[in-house]
Amino acid sequence: MPSRVEVCKVEDVAAGEVRKIEAGDLTLAVYNLDGDFCVTDDACTHGPGSLSEGFLESDIIECNFHQGKFNVRTGEVVAPPCMVPIKTYRTIVENGRVYVEV
Ligand code: FES
Repeated sequence: MPSRVEVCKVEDVAAGEVRKIEAGDLTLAVYNLDGDFCVTDDACTHGPGSLSEGFLESDIIECNFHQGKFNVRTGEVVAPPCMVPIKTYRTIVENGRVYVEV
């Protein structure tokens, strides 16, 4: 049975933005895709990049370290040099708060 971890309030991440949030022992990147929230690990799978410092366009995040790209909904790599998908979390929005299942 997965447990729920509260990540932030809806208003903490503006539409079209990504923000780094620490929740428990997780360091997450929280994306607001025009009202649709997605959450991934913040650490790029390719190296020291922090995805929350990258560039979000639609549902694609570009790591600002070597310009690798991931789809933030599925975690799949969409541009090299990244090879390993980023971990995504099932995300629930309820009563103005964002939660992930872990
Ligand atoms: S550290 Fe992210 S693309 Fe290399």
